[in-house]
Amino acid sequence: MTDTRSESSEEPPGNLPRHIAIIMDGNGRWARERGKTRITGHRQGAESVRVVTTACARKGIGQLTLYAFSTENWKRPRSEVSALMRLLKRYLAAERGTILDNNIRFTTIGRTQDLPEAVQEELREVKRLSIDNSGMVLCLALSYGSRREITDAARKLAIDVKAGKLDPDSITEDSFADYLDTAGMPDPDLVIRTAGEMRLSNFLLWQASYAEIYVTQTYWPDFREDELDKALDAFAKRKRKFGAVDLRT
Ligand code: FPP
Repeated sequence: MTDTRSESSEEPPGNLPRHIAIIMDGNGRWARERGKTRITGHRQGAESVRVVTTACARKGIGQLTLYAFSTENWKRPRSEVSALMRLLKRYLAAERGTILDNNIRFTTIGRTQDLPEAVQEELREVKRLSIDNSGMVLCLALSYGSRREITDAARKLAIDVKAGKLDPDSITEDSFADYLDTAGMPDPDLVIRTAGEMRLSNFLLWQASYAEIYVTQTYWPDFREDELDKALDAFAKRKRKFGAVDLRT
């Protein structure tokens, strides 16, 4: 019997995710296995950020969100945190041209006010220069933690209720989402995690409710365009039902 499911599918050809979110893990293991320092692993990871960002923009992905520094990452040794901050500042200065040349709009989620002032300046500058770009949105999650984001949203909502600006009975999932750092952004369709761990690690817990999750053993410094293509192929084969029944099967 001929399988006509793909012909009757309403999914667009290629079935690309509109929004990809990535938990970039394994920089340290990549370095350790090569007898190198952890910061060397992070530097190679920054190169993967560059490669994957331009590849996603070229493929027509609408948004790429990268978990670059979590609220928990502040607990790392001070020397590693400073090295990561220096790397981030250098990356932003070096990649500004590429971001602009590729019509990418740069943004962030998380408490960027916790970052060193020099990093905040670079962030403001890249955001300002790219604000009118109409291509892919590149969003860095920095000093980001999902539980804190949701708690902050609940606090802002409570303040609005207390001030009489908001009727508690009018709160919906959509109106709550407007209080999150990701207000106005589409939810991720695909969450990629490198280096094998099967968890979300406090990343986009609200937003990833219906995301497809793809975990690869590959360490982030080795995650380049061929690995991205494997993740996109896996996504294209998934059937997304959003809790409903797929009547085509
Ligand atoms: C996890 O590796 C990665 C991070 C702590 C954050 C990601 C940081 C980068 C990719 C570097 C630069 C980022 C930008 C945006 C320029 P890990 O140290 O937890 O690895 P391990 O679990 O193997 O120790």
